[in-house]
Amino acid sequence: MDFQTTHHQAVTDKPGENALFIVYGLLDTPNTEDKVKEVCGSFSAIVRSMKGRYPELEISGVMGFGSDAWDTLFGEEEKPKELSTFQEIKGDKHTAVSTKGDLFFHLRAKKMAPCFEIASIISQKLQGVVESIDEVHGFRYFEGRAMIGFVDGTENPEDQEAYEAAIIHDEEAFNGGSYAFVQKYLHDMNQWNGLSTEEQEKVIGRRKFNDVELSDDEKPSNAHNVVTNIEDEEGNELKIIRANMPFANVSKHEFGTYFIGYASTFSTTRKMLEAMFIGTEEGNYDRLLDFSTAVTGTLFFIPTFDMLEALGEA
Ligand code: HEM
Repeated sequence: MDFQTTHHQAVTDKPGENALFIVYGLLDTPNTEDKVKEVCGSFSAIVRSMKGRYPELEISGVMGFGSDAWDTLFGEEEKPKELSTFQEIKGDKHTAVSTKGDLFFHLRAKKMAPCFEIASIISQKLQGVVESIDEVHGFRYFEGRAMIGFVDGTENPEDQEAYEAAIIHDEEAFNGGSYAFVQKYLHDMNQWNGLSTEEQEKVIGRRKFNDVELSDDEKPSNAHNVVTNIEDEEGNELKIIRANMPFANVSKHEFGTYFIGYASTFSTTRKMLEAMFIGTEEGNYDRLLDFSTAVTGTLFFIPTFDMLEALGEA
């Protein structure tokens, strides 16, 4: 498949300097369908206009739909095959919870102003037909470090490999789309900072200062980069595109990671989550979870810009 011509949304972009993540719930009103479809039809132009006016700000926008919203707006007959409500994953100690979400927006730019501007235009258009479920303002922390101080995103695939990882290419009607899974994590920073740097490095599987991977002998089996390194039956590494961002509400002592994984098949992301929360061997869950609690978890389908426009006209 020629990924360049699919008009896919910005699902392979870098995490960026600033990101706004918004999850809305649909309200049951006579105007809901019309107003949401109006946004589907105009979203690409709203983003394009901002990009055209401020090319140096690396603006990108992604819009997606939860399973229930898809059924309500577009019907259940023709539906992306892996779009369903996320089923929670319960390990012995930690749970990947499932939380509600109908519409999703991921807005990125070098400055927060264009993210805010796009979000406010959308919010104006959706006024009265949606309720806010969650809104997180993420920022780039020094050299792309997660809240826990380690560089995040290093093993993300690039170029053709990134397209293959993030963009659907075996679903006829939905080729060019993507599955976005989001999770808001809160970190226990007192406990995390109570570990020595060497202990933290064993949790992540990389050196903290220079981001170099630990050797196989040094990495414990419950290190984050061991657990999330998964393969298919033929031994091929399965990849997704991650664009996580740190966020904080410092005075409330709230420190977090907004995890977002774009994938051509959600089953890859789900396998990673199962390895993290349950473990491939009993009890071998991801040690990072002892310092990080998932408080949300929602799956969205991300159509191409062409599909979005067609949905707007449907
Ligand atoms: C690797 C942070 C959640 C999948 C990493 C790395 C860091 C990190 C620092 C090492 C550098 C890199 O390769 O990017 C975090 C934090 C999370 C989180 C702070 C939330 C608390 C997740 C989740 C998934 C995931 C939920 C999957 C569903 C991966 C993968 C890698 C990775 C696939 C690369 C592993 C490899 O080396 O092959 N993460 N992560 N992460 N993470 Fe996460």
